[in-house]
Amino acid sequence: MKNTVTTFKSAKESNEKLSMLTAYDYSTAKLMDEAGINGILVGDSLGNVVLGYEDTLSVTMEDMIHHGRAVARGAKNSLVVVDMPFMSYQTSVYDAVKNAGRLMKEGRAGAVKLEGGKEVSEAINAITNAGIPVMAHLGLTPQSINAFGGFKVQGKSEEAAKKLINDAKAVEEAGAFALVLECVPEKLAKLITESINIPTIGIGAGKYCDGQILVYQDMLGMFSDFTPKFVKKYADIGSVMKEAFKEYNDEINKGVFPSGEHTYKIDDEVIEKLY
Ligand code: KIV
Ligand code: NA
Repeated sequence: MKNTVTTFKSAKESNEKLSMLTAYDYSTAKLMDEAGINGILVGDSLGNVVLGYEDTLSVTMEDMIHHGRAVARGAKNSLVVVDMPFMSYQTSVYDAVKNAGRLMKEGRAGAVKLEGGKEVSEAINAITNAGIPVMAHLGLTPQSINAFGGFKVQGKSEEAAKKLINDAKAVEEAGAFALVLECVPEKLAKLITESINIPTIGIGAGKYCDGQILVYQDMLGMFSDFTPKFVKKYADIGSVMKEAFKEYNDEINKGVFPSGEHTYKIDDEVIEKLY
């Protein structure tokens, strides 16, 4: 069944959980789509896991459009959400609407996601009014990593928790259709989930969120630079890949690959004339 923004909203009403993963290319998106994942996020984590940067700040609109299109081609039924990169919506409401529009038109997104609470609610409202669904993102918001001073759990003090709850209400009020909560204590994420009518999608935010999301390279064991506590490894694909690469390398060196079954033939008569 085709997942839409409406599917996400009604999932919360009927207490059905939502599954999301990140993807950055066609073939991975296709596998997730076939597996029945509700939503695929073309995250700006692209910067970390695909492009090899230390943070998400260098990711560009062109990067997101390029990968968005690829994922959109592979996703028949999953809702494709594309991240708005750093500085594509913080500079003005005009920029926010213009760039969200580019992600829809050129990036083939079904929705966009941006980070922040009250300070971006005007942008969320304007983008939504342009007919573009917005997913919000609170808690640990990696585009503000330099302001946070590192990757840590958010909302632990009473003051910080109150701010998160108010921000969650602000993005809902502004028109967001869903909210990602990243690195938030489980009981606070539960309270936020109960305080708003749009679904919460947790990453490091515990089991009471309406849905979950993980970066696919993390959950497949393909990315070892940094593994947060909240990552569950569902497979060790990284090792499987490395073993296959080693075996391929060995077989080339030993002349085992390619053998007859992977080789094209020509009539001996033809070849003899060429010598
Ligand atoms: O970029 C990303 O992968 C994200 C998810 C971690 C929510 O924003
Ligand atoms: Na992101």
